[in-house]
Amino acid sequence: MLGTMSNIGFGIDIGGSGIKGARVNLDDGEFVGERIKIPTPKPATPDAVAETVAEIIRQAEWDGPVGITIPSVIKGQVATTAANIDPTWINTDVKELFGRYLSEREISVLNDADAAGLAEVKFGAPEAREGAVVFLTFGTGIGSAFITDGHLFPNTEVGHLIIDGAEAEYQASSHAKDREELSYKKWAKRVSMVLNEYERLFNPTVFVVGGGISRLHDKWIPRLTVETPVIPATLRNRAGIVGAAMAVHDHLTP
Ligand code: BGC
Repeated sequence: MLGTMSNIGFGIDIGGSGIKGARVNLDDGEFVGERIKIPTPKPATPDAVAETVAEIIRQAEWDGPVGITIPSVIKGQVATTAANIDPTWINTDVKELFGRYLSEREISVLNDADAAGLAEVKFGAPEAREGAVVFLTFGTGIGSAFITDGHLFPNTEVGHLIIDGAEAEYQASSHAKDREELSYKKWAKRVSMVLNEYERLFNPTVFVVGGGISRLHDKWIPRLTVETPVIPATLRNRAGIVGAAMAVHDHLTP
């Protein structure tokens, strides 16, 4: 029994609309019990978000280590960017911040796409489990995780690569599709342009694509004109929480 218990972790995924947390079985990547979701406070300042994270931990009655994702570059447990989150996150020492709200416990904070990528590579489609994997999330922005044989190269931000005069995520995120009311056909052309550039520069074994729009992958993956295989993520909105729990379990502190 004890052995089983030690393989239960806890992950929290901080998103633009909700902050979600759950216990995770680290052997199979499944949730244990209910996922708790609280709307992201507005404005989503570091203290307001940390207070909400603490509330989730309280509701879950969890006193073990906690992994936390945020949509920011995390270097030495300091947030250094804020593309789609409140600008006050820039230069926030996240270890100190969450340490203040979550009392004595181990905490790992990492980029949201890095966490989701780790989870997909471990528990997702078998084709994504080895080789040089480029994992991408299409949502408000484009998030990325570069993983080789399970090892993460953290904080890649290829959504911000300038391609044909503009940032990749400005042109090809799912937010761009909504903003410009693009058909799947037109949007797939944008995604192809972006993937072709990533292919040219990084030559991965496979692209794994996640984010809400990956649920409708039949509508766009077949239209992509890229040589590298593209496969849909399978953990869906579970990935961030699972990856966060994995990160703290593995003492990963980018
Ligand atoms: C941010 C990344 C984040 C991605 C997905 C981008 O705008 O720069 O850090 O992973 O959005 O949320």
